[in-house]
Amino acid sequence: MSRFSCLLWLEEVSSTQDFLKEREGLNCVVCAKKQTLGRGRYGRSWHSDEGGLYLSFALQEELKDEQTLPLVIALSVCQMLEDYGFLTSIKWVNDVYIMGKKVCGVLVEKLKNRSIVGIGINVNQKAFPQNLSATSMFLASGKEYSTVCVLLSLLDKIEKHLNILKEKGFKAFRDDIKRRLLFLDQEVIIHTKPPTLGILKDISEEGYLILLTAHGEKKIISGDITLRGIIG
Ligand code: BTN
Repeated sequence: MSRFSCLLWLEEVSSTQDFLKEREGLNCVVCAKKQTLGRGRYGRSWHSDEGGLYLSFALQEELKDEQTLPLVIALSVCQMLEDYGFLTSIKWVNDVYIMGKKVCGVLVEKLKNRSIVGIGINVNQKAFPQNLSATSMFLASGKEYSTVCVLLSLLDKIEKHLNILKEKGFKAFRDDIKRRLLFLDQEVIIHTKPPTLGILKDISEEGYLILLTAHGEKKIISGDITLRGIIG
């Protein structure tokens, strides 16, 4: 039986993530047309106007390499978008990009015995605030999409990927993710304290980044990644 046999579609909610967090026994995929308090990583807000797809679901099962869930879910989003003809990249660890702009963000939050997975996909939005480097499937293609079809296609990919992750672990996805990794072989900054500078060389078996720094190879476990600006 599919993990996703129950679907709850809300007109508007503060955040699908919080809605699920507050309802421990609810084993449904919670979707919303609009969120008033959509959240991203590091407490950032997630722009959640109508036109996007906002969903969360809870996982209560043992998975191998659980820390790689954001990456594996990002890969599911990539493959769904590729089926629609888009070229995608993954900005480690949880963002999906098309044409150099963010089209999707993934948020995984661990509660006691549950992981809550939240996904925001920009589907039919016609514009974004100027300070966001965001795009939508509509802006990238000039076509409108059915959010229901996008959702069903995505859940299908996620279902398959979770089964593989459970059985084989992250090694089964490593090559597919490396191939889509944004900034591979480029000079990047990881915004840790202090920041780490280096060339992005690889992704490890645990899903960490491998950077070639002035002091040799370094594994990066967390932090935001950006391209190092060219200084004249
Ligand atoms: C990020 O880019 O930092 C992650 C963004 C995650 C947004 C999704 S939208 C559905 C779910 N509900 C939320 O409030 N956040 C996630």
